[in-house]
Amino acid sequence: MLQDKIQQYTEEIERFAPQSAQELEAFRLKFLVAKGIVRDLFEEFKTVSADQKRALGKTLNEFKQSVEQKYKLFQAQFASGTQSSKKEIGDLTLPGEGFAVGSRHPLSLVRKEIVEIFKKLGFTVAEGPEIEDDWHNFSALNFPPEHPARDMQDTFFIKKQAGNDIALRTHTSSVQVRMMENGTPPFRSIMPGRVYRNEAISARAHCFFHQVEGLYVDKGVSFADLKQTLYHFVQELFGEDTRVRFRPSYFPFTEPSAEMDISCTICKGKGCTLCKHTGWVEILGCGMVDPNVLENCGVDSAKYTGFAFGMGIERITNLKYEIKDLRLFSENDVRFLSQFETELI
Ligand code: DAH
Repeated sequence: MLQDKIQQYTEEIERFAPQSAQELEAFRLKFLVAKGIVRDLFEEFKTVSADQKRALGKTLNEFKQSVEQKYKLFQAQFASGTQSSKKEIGDLTLPGEGFAVGSRHPLSLVRKEIVEIFKKLGFTVAEGPEIEDDWHNFSALNFPPEHPARDMQDTFFIKKQAGNDIALRTHTSSVQVRMMENGTPPFRSIMPGRVYRNEAISARAHCFFHQVEGLYVDKGVSFADLKQTLYHFVQELFGEDTRVRFRPSYFPFTEPSAEMDISCTICKGKGCTLCKHTGWVEILGCGMVDPNVLENCGVDSAKYTGFAFGMGIERITNLKYEIKDLRLFSENDVRFLSQFETELI
């Protein structure tokens, strides 16, 4: 019964070739509306015996698709036909149609914000290569050969070569070295860029991420300058009520070294899961540039002192936007990306 009806309608649909939009509309009203034939057939399908359901269900679905396709095909034809047959160009006084604009990537937004803050303090922006040699990534930065400190950063090696392996840079500190080698003090720069580490990808770790390195070398630069600069930076970026604290730490390229924490931006220091109930979150490493590093780069350490710092842009973006999974930054899911500010300039 149902089978026969489907067969009969299928033939009718195959023959159907409307000459006008009205004919097409009649077709729609006959087959596709709530009380139309397609819906009726589906109603009838409910009464079919269980052993027939499988085969008939497939036929019925195919039938429905062919009705819809036929409708869409002619709908498109009539739509374009009516447009081309009209000679008029419309009302030219109407406002133009807007067009969709993409949004900036959150990491770009935050990098830009960081750069702007330091620019106002007189820092210039510098960049260096992502493919580095051992000298710029490690040795010049006072990592002794075979020293365990090299294991702090799991390196992707590209080419092993005697005394100077080629690798993807593991941090932007390599740009400090290039800058000092190629210029004369004073140096006051920040260096944003992408870095790579051989880590398993998870919500909290990735094999590539972004850093901003900072370097200030001149006569008489002290730890007080370091603290004040970073304190100002934090207040600009996270707001005036944000507190900072410095904890002693170790980096081969700075002496003394410190890590800087800020009061948790989410719970304001009261304790939450983000700050693991400590009220503080670490945002960067810093210290006074080790005299060995200055000398390695041709800067006279008897005359000059300097401070340096390095921070992860992802970490800061996570704090600013409460993002909990690092993978979101590189998956390019528009549902994530379109939530961020759109800038036209
Ligand atoms: N290069 C360090 C890292 O990737 C970060 C860092 C720490 C940079 C201390 C510095 C510094 O310039 O002084 O973990």
